[in-house]
Amino acid sequence: MTPAIEVRELGRRFGDVTALDGLDLAITLGTVFGPLGRKRSATPESAYDRAMAADEFVLDTPDVRTFITDVRAAIADGSSPADAIERIRPRFADLLADPNWLPAVYQEAAPQSGMGGGIGQWALYRAEDGSLSLFSLVVPSGSETPVHDHLAWGLVGLYRGTQDEEIFARERGALRLSERRALGPGDFYALIPPADDIHRVRTTSAETSVSIHLLTNDTGCVWRHAYDPASGEERPFRSGYVNVDCR
Ligand SMILES: [Fe+2]
Repeated sequence: MTPAIEVRELGRRFGDVTALDGLDLAITLGTVFGPLGRKRSATPESAYDRAMAADEFVLDTPDVRTFITDVRAAIADGSSPADAIERIRPRFADLLADPNWLPAVYQEAAPQSGMGGGIGQWALYRAEDGSLSLFSLVVPSGSETPVHDHLAWGLVGLYRGTQDEEIFARERGALRLSERRALGPGDFYALIPPADDIHRVRTTSAETSVSIHLLTNDTGCVWRHAYDPASGEERPFRSGYVNVDCR
């Protein structure tokens, strides 16, 4: 039968990805035809897919993967950090309101942590290029973090327990307490340094507090700063993670 459509040596590239290479194709009348790749679609593997595949989903669940996919889309589409944060807000609120997505192990204190006070910083997700991380911070009742900074924008919210947060402003080498706020489950705030980037949190509930951090660096592994709140003196500070090593 004479083909209705016939092509030879068909090729298609997307950047450095070869989607089709030397395809010969003949389609006769009355047939239905569609190429099925290993992802069961005609869509080629994109640079985006490859980046996601190289990322480290320490907590590898559909909830976390969907959340990170949505966050990455918001960052890609956002015209600025503030705009991206506005796009992420509803998804972050949903994450804090969902009692089921975070396994108990990531809500446990860690006696030997880099934060001290039994504070556990658990990596949940890290971008391969260090441009994004999701982690839980577990602070036992009565414990408080050092005064520290983050050096990246993102969102921080409380998942369990209650916390007091003290925010410091840097003035002529000294630290001045600029704001104190109480946080309960579901409360969250945006962080866009340098504004409000230096803070300390203390758990005020009888139960351990758990906060969720989505920040645009590999927060546990970058060298940040811890501060002496009395003198304002700073020192290099790397908190690390309880459950993964720094690369
Ligand atoms: Fe912090």
